[in-house]
Amino acid sequence: MGIENKRREILLSKEKIDERIEALGKTLTEDYKDKNLLVISLLKGSFIFTADLVRKIDLPVRIEFMTTSSYGHSEESTGQLKIVQDITADDLSEFDVLIVDDITDSALTMTGVMAILSKRNPKSLKACVLLDKPSRRKVSYVPDYVGFEIPDMFIVGYGLNYGDYYRNIDHVFAFVD
Ligand code: IMP
Ligand code: MG
Repeated sequence: MGIENKRREILLSKEKIDERIEALGKTLTEDYKDKNLLVISLLKGSFIFTADLVRKIDLPVRIEFMTTSSYGHSEESTGQLKIVQDITADDLSEFDVLIVDDITDSALTMTGVMAILSKRNPKSLKACVLLDKPSRRKVSYVPDYVGFEIPDMFIVGYGLNYGDYYRNIDHVFAFVD
């Protein structure tokens, strides 16, 4: 049976996501109030989370986008991080950089992006992810800000895709048997 025909189980409702993002925004507003915040959003998965999160940060904020290689149509990472589209700045010494991503799974994406950006000398470099699957790590890594810790299941919606679809769903769900 194709995944599309499986039963859908809602993991995080729109209300629950909104409430958590509001709280994250308050924390970030406090933590970055005397800093020079530059948000770097990892496409495509984090475009919706980024849009909602930055509107809950009550500070001047710059936003850049970076595209890394994705899972494509499979559920497993290939383990090879590719920068498909980089940000323009190669000197980040003015900025307190906050990388925003939808989910940390193996952590190969986040640790790879961190390694690349840290060479550009940011004042500080942290990460905020909506979802964290700590049980799936291939490299040891703990994100600085996490919306929700979730179990090892493949989920979609709210920016996350399967076969490049379902990103526009306003909640997070899993396909179950
Ligand atoms: P990582 O490099 O394994 O940590 O995974 C990073 C990327 O894989 C995330 O930014 C997502 O775009 C994608 N990903 C990981 N788990 C899921 C999932 O359960 N559903 C959809 N995409 C996922
Ligand atoms: Mg992603």
